[in-house]
Amino acid sequence: MIIKEIADGIYFLGAMHWERRLFDELIPLPDGTSYNAYLIKNEKIALIDTVDPSKRDELMDSLDEMKIKRIDYVISHHTEQDHSGVIPDILEKYKEAKVIASKLGKELLKEHLLIPEDKIIVVENGQNLSLGNKNLKFISAPWVHWPETILSYLKEDKILFTCDLFGSHLATSKIYADENPRIYETAKRYYAEIMMPFRSKIKNYLEKLEQIEIKMIAPSHGPIYRHPDFILKAYKDWVSNKVRKEVIVAYVSMHGSIEVMVKHFIKALEKNGLHYKLFNLTVTDVGELAMALVDASTLVLATPTVLTGMHPLALYAFYLANALNPKTKFVSIIISYGWGGKALKQARDMFRLKAELIEPVMARGYPKEKDFEKLDELARKIAEKHEGI
Ligand code: FEO
Repeated sequence: MIIKEIADGIYFLGAMHWERRLFDELIPLPDGTSYNAYLIKNEKIALIDTVDPSKRDELMDSLDEMKIKRIDYVISHHTEQDHSGVIPDILEKYKEAKVIASKLGKELLKEHLLIPEDKIIVVENGQNLSLGNKNLKFISAPWVHWPETILSYLKEDKILFTCDLFGSHLATSKIYADENPRIYETAKRYYAEIMMPFRSKIKNYLEKLEQIEIKMIAPSHGPIYRHPDFILKAYKDWVSNKVRKEVIVAYVSMHGSIEVMVKHFIKALEKNGLHYKLFNLTVTDVGELAMALVDASTLVLATPTVLTGMHPLALYAFYLANALNPKTKFVSIIISYGWGGKALKQARDMFRLKAELIEPVMARGYPKEKDFEKLDELARKIAEKHEGI
């Protein structure tokens, strides 16, 4: 665990998980991740979040190494186990410690971690907790990304502790964002995978955060921002309604029909002067796809028909796009089929994006001249739509 004093009496306790490659058994982690706890030593001692249970010993050993004999408060911003999982161990070792959480946080801590009710103090939005000559103010921030989430602001040092918000999945020994050249990309990937569904909430929170002076943003994953404008500006851009004129083409092909159609289609996009990104779903890292969807204007999904519906990989990509709720403005679908044309109905039934569905293209068997013409037409329509952005 990396222990570093980041301001007077405030310590970063970061457990690096270099080798972790999957989060929630779902999200690829090409750069590993970190679980950051923070310790504030004042008249009262507060531990801000804990770490993933797999890093329990690192946190407990670090507290011993720092000769911490007493913890008064454990601030639980968010109940997901990668931050709250070691709270029971802290309560076991530091008998006087109380957990600070939101009202819903208290319920979730009881349910998920079996923490006794009398160990938890509920705080409201705007409430102050005095630690001596330093004060923590709690800011309610539901849905970044669970409904119980709070942030906390250390008034005297102007540090905002944000738990998941503004985080990045990046294991690094360089604890400040400005020391990591790839931070923009890792933070964007993290936003895409975790925060994007809550874009409109985040927009509101960013406006609220503009009212307070922030010198440092200290998230519980990835590096700390000692120049917070960098990440605030990036988030402002990602959550805005602004899109890039770019077509994301995500496809899977079984017997070559879709591959031929996609090759023709991207040529047609080029002829119309359109930029695109191509994702073969058999080899795609879904994090890359999610990241591309953060600001692309258009998504085109291409799939063969398997039994009575889309190929499972295309189905997954479609499900993911629906769930991530990107600001994509236009969507279309390219389908090939042999004998049953039900994949289109399935796609239409599943469609949840707040985007305009441009007339899909369907081809039976190997694509013919009329199918290529329809693909040309689709590219033309997209170009027209892009003109209007
Ligand atoms: Fe990092 Fe939602 O947990």
